[in-house]
Amino acid sequence: MFTSKYFWLIAGILLIAAIGNGQAETFPCKIKEAEYGKVCVCTSDYCDYLDNPILTSDTEFTLISSSKQGLRFATSSGNFGTESKHIVDDYEEPAAETNNDEFLTELWENTLASAFTVESRESAITRYVALKLNRSTTYQTITGFGGSFTGAVSHILENFNNQDIDNHLYKSFYGEEGLGFNLMRTPIGGCDFDLSPWSYSEEDGDTELSGMDQLDERDVIRVAQMKRLIEVSGAKNLKIKGAAWSAPPWMKTNNKWTGFGRLKRAYYQTWADYHLKWVKLMEDNGLPIWAISTGNEPLNGIFFMFFVKFMSMGWTPQTQAIWVNDYLGPTIRNSAFKDLVIFSNDDQRYSFPHWFKMMNYTRPNSLDYLDGLSVHWYWDEIFGNSFIDSTNNYIADKLLIVSESCIGDKPWQKAAPLLGSWERAEKYARDYLQNLKLGFHGWIDWNIILDEQGGPNYVDNTVDAPVIANTTTYEEFYKQPMFYAMGHFSKLVPEGSVRIEASPSNVNLDSVAFERPDKKIAAILFNSGRADVDITVDDSVRGSFIVNVPAKSIHTLLYS
Ligand SMILES: *[C@@H]1O[C@H](CO)[C@@H](O)[C@H](O)[C@H]1NC(C)=O
Ligand SMILES: *[C@@H]1O[C@H](CO)[C@@H](O)[C@H](O)[C@H]1NC(C)=O
Ligand SMILES: *[C@@H]1O[C@H](CO)[C@@H](O)[C@H](O)[C@H]1NC(C)=O
Repeated sequence: MFTSKYFWLIAGILLIAAIGNGQAETFPCKIKEAEYGKVCVCTSDYCDYLDNPILTSDTEFTLISSSKQGLRFATSSGNFGTESKHIVDDYEEPAAETNNDEFLTELWENTLASAFTVESRESAITRYVALKLNRSTTYQTITGFGGSFTGAVSHILENFNNQDIDNHLYKSFYGEEGLGFNLMRTPIGGCDFDLSPWSYSEEDGDTELSGMDQLDERDVIRVAQMKRLIEVSGAKNLKIKGAAWSAPPWMKTNNKWTGFGRLKRAYYQTWADYHLKWVKLMEDNGLPIWAISTGNEPLNGIFFMFFVKFMSMGWTPQTQAIWVNDYLGPTIRNSAFKDLVIFSNDDQRYSFPHWFKMMNYTRPNSLDYLDGLSVHWYWDEIFGNSFIDSTNNYIADKLLIVSESCIGDKPWQKAAPLLGSWERAEKYARDYLQNLKLGFHGWIDWNIILDEQGGPNYVDNTVDAPVIANTTTYEEFYKQPMFYAMGHFSKLVPEGSVRIEASPSNVNLDSVAFERPDKKIAAILFNSGRADVDITVDDSVRGSFIVNVPAKSIHTLLYS
């Protein structure tokens, strides 16, 4: 009893001290040791959140930190121009049950001593890097970050059968106290992450698309969930992007959901109308749509039909140019939804920029109908940056967005969630950094939640996700390290932020930085090494400070 009374007293003093320090109020991660590392547990009555930090002076900086060892959005702050090194303490395993004296000694050594004295951490090696941030060198403007709302996501949320858990999931991704997402991708009809393949107007020969006069019963549920997400999270200006995986079989050359099948020429206009009708249907039901793509992974129905077993429809760049230029483009631009953003490709890096060159070759200026180019990240490690660089050289004025990412799609990866895997978080951080430095304007991840097997997926094409549901009880979900990795980019980099130059002096650190619309600077710092690193941050306006960050950690730095 003695112990716990003192513990809460001291914890209370520390909490007051922290709030008095201008640090953000926070509901910390409820850590659980899972098979591959640590996850954060959310239940109907608890979930971790972090209010956006408030800076109290021009020289103050705040760091949000996560690490392999167990930090999850831990905050600390300091000031530019301070001589002493700012130290980000790594996560400490809570002390095991001990007797009172030992407990108090440990509490002193682990918590209080470090709070009241500045001592340098002793470690075998410390690496060094200088990070120069130049606000005068500017690059692309950020559109935003997001995740996807598939039939699988909708199904899991429905099964929670508990509004409070659903609400925690919505706020965790789209609330300001969560990851601050503002983009969302959703399938038009079904996709592989669903209980079965489906589309609107499946009935043979429904060329009038009468099946689109009202929401499909699955969309009645999904649309209601998405509207609740907007309401509960307070997401302002949520941008929703739709993509169809396949037309109904009767519109296709092979009359099937998958395989070597393309859209029949006779239905090019019908398929354009289908997209317009879907946008209107969503808007009529309270969900304005920001963008559509010309269709998910068109090459699946052309080259990869032997491997891909799920809903797909093939396009070549030549046929897509004809459809976009002669049918979809005019249909949308001459409609009440003329400002709808149209993305093309929605496939892998290796098709860039050849796809667009071939489109333009077939229908000169067909690219004018496109506002954006979207790409899936799956082959980024094999097909180099030149595919994107040459796309930027070829057509520079388009929005460039990663529209799908997840891990577990490759034969050499475990096609299932690895609960607690920090390595997977690092893979996200690396690719976000790489693509943002290549000029990408935004990133939309795949399913926001999946079950323990990485589904449901009607062809068992299971993968990992940033949040995993416990479908034994449907009483909790687990935030994976990947969730925080994405959040280090999205949380403090709102729409309209402009990338600025961030140059580390060596490979001990990877970084990307932004000037936000409120003129504050947000920089992501990634130490993937096994040693801690002293970083000398040097801003072109604000001056410098030194921070020591632990091994295997990711940080978001915010300052004026
Ligand atoms: C910062 O960027 C500007 C514009 O590109 C450049 O003129 C200036 O030399 C840079 N400053 C430093 C310190 O590199
Ligand atoms: C597309 O083709 C037209 C006609 O050949 C050409 O004038 C135009 O420059 C091309 N556009 C691009 C982006 O290559
Ligand atoms: C789900 O909850 C059950 C019951 O509490 C538990 O036994 C199981 O380990 C949990 N699953 C995971 C993946 O943690």
